[in-house]
Amino acid sequence: MIQARSRLHHWYAENKRDLPWRSEPSPYRIWLSEIILQQTRVAQGMDYYLRFVDAFPTVFDLANAEEDSILKLWQGLGYYNRARNLHAAAKQVVTEHSGSFPDDYDGLLSLKGVGPYTAAAIASIAYHLPHAVVDGNVIRVLARVHGIEAPVDQGLTLKEIQNLANAFLSRAHPGDHNQAVMELGALVCTPRTPNCVACPLRAECKAHKLDLIDSIPIKSKKIKRRSRFFHYIIATEAGKTAIQQRGEKDIWAGLYQFPLIETTTDETLTDELIIAHLNLNKINVVRVNAVAKHVLSHQDIYTRFYHTELQLEQLADCKLVTLEELHTFALPRLIDRYLENKSLSEGKKRH
Ligand code: ADE
Repeated sequence: MIQARSRLHHWYAENKRDLPWRSEPSPYRIWLSEIILQQTRVAQGMDYYLRFVDAFPTVFDLANAEEDSILKLWQGLGYYNRARNLHAAAKQVVTEHSGSFPDDYDGLLSLKGVGPYTAAAIASIAYHLPHAVVDGNVIRVLARVHGIEAPVDQGLTLKEIQNLANAFLSRAHPGDHNQAVMELGALVCTPRTPNCVACPLRAECKAHKLDLIDSIPIKSKKIKRRSRFFHYIIATEAGKTAIQQRGEKDIWAGLYQFPLIETTTDETLTDELIIAHLNLNKINVVRVNAVAKHVLSHQDIYTRFYHTELQLEQLADCKLVTLEELHTFALPRLIDRYLENKSLSEGKKRH
């Protein structure tokens, strides 16, 4: 085990990516990078990280920011509650800890949006405390090395993997060790076609020895995909268009969108149906554009955009904004892309 650890550390020293938070490790930056990298690949998260530290160099800047400006910067990353929790945690650090991050695991865990993984990552990388991280990459590496054929999404198996991670952790260099395991999972021990020839843990890897690389890790639950049908109602009047903010409980929490009707079936809504759904007096649909399915982790979103003539005062709970203002709001990527391709005034012109 000591040899395996040492080979891993050598491999990491030679092969680690030059990531911006690695050269300037402060608790704030490490926390920011780890929140961004939850459910996001490094390649995608990097630009966001750079934009965030540029816009908010300190936790005070982030705590004092408007939530909408944070959401706007987060636009496109998905899982928008992460952005809202980021803001809440920054405020917590400022008000409850005078602007200094808690310097132990339990203190970190008390921050909004910081779970066991993130607390262990910050504690080990920023404070060199011996907490082993377990994320998707670590699970895959350890399940393969130890030949774990039980489903890794079950509590007992996860516990076993956490114990193995604790035992494997380097007490001398916990932060580098944790990052080395994650890096190995990201660069070598990849889900499909891992590069076993380059792996520093090949000699002890049971999955490699038993030719089980393709079948480990195993997941028991197949999460069912859900299809959703969105109908966005676009109306412009005197250069303004109506938008509404999404609620907290669903995808794209807190983002802005055109007034939405959701149906359970794939259909094009008639004027009458729109009137009934939105409680309107009158509407005239000029044109409907369906866009390609938008794929999220567990949902497929099918969307139609309805360009309409509609008196905006009929719409409840909406903000009226100019087309330039519209782009300053955090919008779901689906809508942003649509706007890139379409001019909103087009509907009127064609009429
Ligand atoms: N994924 C999430 N955090 C990471 C880190 N610090 N290094 C490598 N991969 C990661």
